[in-house]
Amino acid sequence: MKNLGRASLLVGLSTLASCSKLNVPLDYTDKSSNKTLELDLIKYPAQNGPSQGSILLNFGGPGQDGLNSMVAYAPIQAPITGGQFDLISWDPRGTGNTLRFACFEPEEIGTQYAQGVPDASDTAPGQVWAEAQILAKTCGETQKANGGLVGMAFTSRDMIEIVDALEEDGLLRYWGLSGGTALGATVAAMFPERVDKIILDGVMNSHQYYHSFGNPAPRLQRRDLRRLPRRLRRHPQQVPLGTRFDTADELKSAIADFFEDLNIANTLTLSTLYRPNSYQNLSRVIDGLLDGDTSPVADVFFGPGAAALSDLDAIEEEFRQESKLFPGFARGYYVYACALWPFEAKERYEGDFHVKTKNPLLFIGNTYDPVTPLASAKNMSAGFEGSVVLQHNGFGPSNCTIKAIQKYFASGELPEADTVCEPNLPLFAEDPEI
Ligand SMILES: *[C@@H]1O[C@H](CO)[C@@H](O)[C@H](O)[C@H]1NC(C)=O
Ligand SMILES: *[C@@H]1O[C@H](CO)[C@@H](O)[C@H](O)[C@H]1NC(C)=O
Ligand SMILES: *[C@@H]1O[C@H](CO)[C@@H](O)[C@H](O)[C@H]1NC(C)=O
Ligand SMILES: *[C@@H]1O[C@H](CO)[C@@H](O)[C@H](O)[C@H]1NC(C)=O
Repeated sequence: MKNLGRASLLVGLSTLASCSKLNVPLDYTDKSSNKTLELDLIKYPAQNGPSQGSILLNFGGPGQDGLNSMVAYAPIQAPITGGQFDLISWDPRGTGNTLRFACFEPEEIGTQYAQGVPDASDTAPGQVWAEAQILAKTCGETQKANGGLVGMAFTSRDMIEIVDALEEDGLLRYWGLSGGTALGATVAAMFPERVDKIILDGVMNSHQYYHSFGNPAPRLQRRDLRRLPRRLRRHPQQVPLGTRFDTADELKSAIADFFEDLNIANTLTLSTLYRPNSYQNLSRVIDGLLDGDTSPVADVFFGPGAAALSDLDAIEEEFRQESKLFPGFARGYYVYACALWPFEAKERYEGDFHVKTKNPLLFIGNTYDPVTPLASAKNMSAGFEGSVVLQHNGFGPSNCTIKAIQKYFASGELPEADTVCEPNLPLFAEDPEI
């Protein structure tokens, strides 16, 4: 990369990664301006022989920065790619120090507007709506100058600038996770001729991302919740809740009644469904609550020894205050804030994600993922000619999935359509590698 001469080590973070900067056009729609934006980049070099090229990584959100995420995840992701590629990430516009999109002053960062759960009570929707108005208005005022410069289309163009600066083959290799899959779908659709290898992993439905107010996942999460009783009953030793009822249906209706009474647990469960290694704890919580015992709640979610909470109002209050712990908990508010959002990106991808790329994409979906579900991987793959969906059938690493990723990056060879990869260990294994 051109600028790596002045790379500096991220001392104390990683001795392998090096950093660099790249100037890109600030506003791709304003051809008369020569204003630039300085992107922060990070490289984690190939560890397994000389580099065969670079793979760009994005870690999702949208809103996750690249530099810190890279330091955390590159050591895990690099071996999965085969270790023969340099991994490159960058702070996308709106994150890190790149046009950082922060609606509040640092001292106000704790302020949480519109993070309530709209279905928590009859009056909640009005309150969340009012707060969303404050949030949108504040963002509109403080981010007026840069709001239109942040978005998927400009970020896609930044990626192509990075590819060009790398001076390799001019083609894009990319591995996008979660929100990074909407970015990957966008860059592939805008620049199909530049696609070498793109893996979209934990796939968002970009049609919905572009054309609705929010993540439709909660609907899918409820479907997953319906499946949960059957899964829990398979492990009576680890999950006593499963044995409380004679049939999965009875357990299911008991849980459903319980949620009627306790909306907060519903939301909590949605976030827990996203973290399968917490199923066991969730089952302890429900098990206790069905007996009117709230101590497992305190134990599991606020640490052992936390004061037992005496009534459910108190729990609800605790969860409100602790909602930062549960990203899923706040999900409801996106819909309201989105509806009121004061910005238009200066450029938007307006196509239909039906694209023939120079080389086909690989989509990866997890059977049980309630937030970026398998159905979205299949939905998006349908539009990208020649692409394939690999179904990761469980939690934790799978040698089969790893082999497919390595083979794809090494040779471009896709797994067979509808390949299902089993994880190395089953759920509730003694020593889950999660
Ligand atoms: C940017 O453009 C202006 C006007 O066209 C010109 O005067 C200026 O020198 C340019 N700056 C750079 C850094 O190229
Ligand atoms: C389950 O709860 C215990 C506390 O009872 C906690 O130490 C542990 O980290 C929790 N496990 C997960 C995966 O959250
Ligand atoms: C993909 O999802 C979108 C949005 O829900 C829907 O309109 C479209 O029909 C789906 N496409 C396929 C092939 O399933
Ligand atoms: C997965 O691969 C690792 C490393 O090659 C090996 O040690 C392990 O036994 C494999 N696990 C399974 C379930 O195949």
